[in-house]
Amino acid sequence: MIKRVLLLMLAVGMIGGTAQAETPQQILDNLVAQAGPANAARGEKLFRSKFSGGKNADSCTACHTDNAKAVGSHVKTNKVIDPLAPVAQKDRFTDPAKVEKWFKRNCNDVLGRACSAQEKADFTAYMISIK
Ligand code: HEC
Repeated sequence: MIKRVLLLMLAVGMIGGTAQAETPQQILDNLVAQAGPANAARGEKLFRSKFSGGKNADSCTACHTDNAKAVGSHVKTNKVIDPLAPVAQKDRFTDPAKVEKWFKRNCNDVLGRACSAQEKADFTAYMISIK
């Protein structure tokens, strides 16, 4: 009986909790549910392409370097940026709100617009595929 009450409290606590940690695969699954199948090769192309509509940088690699397993550096502030690939930085793509926040900011900085769900799915698939 006491065990059951404890389990119930645990379950309620988990549902009521705010910080929802997910796995990179769950984050990808959510994006795929919105966009359709993801394509890691297209995601890599987005990562490596140069754009001209951006405000702060012409590419993702400007800050994240061309190696997603490497430590990056902010093109304006020189602030150190941890690697983007989950294989090199284990908390990457585990916090949906953080992922959304930075897609929004960085796509605007580089593309001059928000990324589509498809672009986000592809990019996330590429990051997960890096071994
Ligand atoms: C002007 C520098 C800059 C550019 C250019 C940039 N980023 Fe980032 N990015 C950052 C910073 C700063 C963070 C957050 C700091 C951190 O988490 O280490 C970040 C974090 C992220 C995250 C969060 C991942 C996670 O789970 O923690 C994603 C996703 C991301 N960037 C995607 C992109 C994409 C896609 C592009 C290209 C369209 C891009 N970034 C270009 C600076 C940049």
